Amino acid sequence: MASYDVIIIGAGPGGYVCAIRCAQLGLKTAVVEGRDTLGGTCLNVGCIPSKALLHATHSLHEAQHNFAAMGLKGKAPSVDWPAMKAYKTDVVGQNTKGIEFLFKKNKVDWIKGWASIPEPGKVQVGEEVHDAKNIVIASGSEASSLPGVNVDEKVVITSTGALELGKIPKKLVVIGAGVIGLEMGSVYARLGAEVTVVEFLDEITPGMDKDVQKTFQRILKKQGLNFVMGAAVQKVDATKTKAKVTYKLRKDDSEHMLDADTVLVATGRKPFINGLGLDKIGVAMTERGQIATDARWATNVAGIYAIGDVIEGPMLAHKAEDEGMAVAEVLAGKASHVNYGVIPGVIYTAPEVASVGATEQQLKDEGRAYKVGKFSFMGNARAKAVFQGEGFVKLLADKDTDRLLGAHIIGPAAGDMIHEICVAMEFGAAAQDVAMTCHAHPTYSEAVREAALACGDGAIHA
Ligand code: FAD
Ligand code: NAI
Repeated sequence: MASYDVIIIGAGPGGYVCAIRCAQLGLKTAVVEGRDTLGGTCLNVGCIPSKALLHATHSLHEAQHNFAAMGLKGKAPSVDWPAMKAYKTDVVGQNTKGIEFLFKKNKVDWIKGWASIPEPGKVQVGEEVHDAKNIVIASGSEASSLPGVNVDEKVVITSTGALELGKIPKKLVVIGAGVIGLEMGSVYARLGAEVTVVEFLDEITPGMDKDVQKTFQRILKKQGLNFVMGAAVQKVDATKTKAKVTYKLRKDDSEHMLDADTVLVATGRKPFINGLGLDKIGVAMTERGQIATDARWATNVAGIYAIGDVIEGPMLAHKAEDEGMAVAEVLAGKASHVNYGVIPGVIYTAPEVASVGATEQQLKDEGRAYKVGKFSFMGNARAKAVFQGEGFVKLLADKDTDRLLGAHIIGPAAGDMIHEICVAMEFGAAAQDVAMTCHAHPTYSEAVREAALACGDGAIHA
């Protein structure tokens, strides 16, 4: 048994970042993690392995579709699926070991095992009970399923099974046109699977800017993904090798069926709090099953805090990281803040999709006067040179003050370009500030400047 200033439960992006910052600020810190490796969902079965597979399959797509046009002749590479998965596993290993190194470097103790909180100020792991002046719950999330759907992670899978499939399916049905469905659907479509995405709503990626939704779906269709929209999945009947997905169309209640070798359930994630014993110590929860916290990430129980996917807000690694750093600063007695209005969201398909701030719909609903500056990648020389002229940058700015309110990008490297607007928004910049900033030529980022110019007297290359 040991005594700590802070014990953090969970070593995902929320927990491990919090731990490192706590240690840097002079607090005696331990992290309890039940998995065999550090890094949580993100590093082990989320962001990192999915991005490795997206990169590998995008490279295949480039070889199949664009190499010949650049004078690179020869047979496109064939897929060695076990080797591709081994590459992905190696990438994961390098990253999880990196966190172990950072823990050692910063003198953060890793207590191995599953934690519970028998009473405030105590964390139990196996038979051992440790004292903690403060406890930060960063236990993350797990995939949520649907009634009538039993996940076996072989034929009916979540994203975790999708990263480890024994073979590439011939027919993949994806339930849910959200981030996981479209990223993993893209991976398998590029690997030759016939992919059908069944979505309850009439648009893909709910909550996203409507222009982006339309363009994104059109591009994905061109890439071979099929969509059944406005469809409520009723059940999935699975054998050891096949499945039948039954859905009803919302418009006329008609019932339909799809055959598949594999069904990916990608209908959202829910907070993971199993075994923590929160009900016994009276930690208050929200109606949606998240741990309720105040503006400083404190729960209703003194000395217990919560961050990341287990509390409200977007389930994103960088949101968890920001909260991890901020709560560490609270515990060290410093001022801290997370600006929830400027948290970017990125979908790592090709093209990438990135957004920050308000959508046009939100501004309309608020009755706010705004202007739109839009610029197509067709007018961007660099994008055209690499066959990525589809898509656009759309900036939203206050009609009177020109202050930037939101940005929505679908195009090459959108996930990197969005940060220019994040920084601008943090500084309360106007579209004109971006428009007057010199942007190197030829870069994709010039499209951001052109969209900013379009908020004023007009883009040059439109
Ligand atoms: P987690 O990363 O879930 O970590 C929680 C950790 O706590 C886990 O390791 C768990 O084992 C441990 N734990 C839980 N309970 C206990 C206990 N009682 N005792 C000990 N340990 C415990 N987000 C992005 O921003 N970008 C992406 O590209 C992206 N891609 C994703 C792809 C997929 C397929 C998935 C599933 C998610 C993706 N996400 C992405 C979301 C991202 O992974 C999560 O938002 C992020 O991991 C949340 O971090 P966290 O620290 O809150 O929790
Ligand atoms: P999601 O919330 O993004 O999408 C779920 C989709 O399923 C929605 O479109 C919803 O309308 C649909 N749906 C729900 N019930 C349905 C039903 N019965 N039939 C048909 N469709 C139905 O959830 P997803 O994709 O599972 O991802 C979970 C979380 O992981 C997200 O919150 C996301 O933030 C995070 N993530 C982030 C990534 C990134 O940042 N690039 C990548 C992958 C995941």
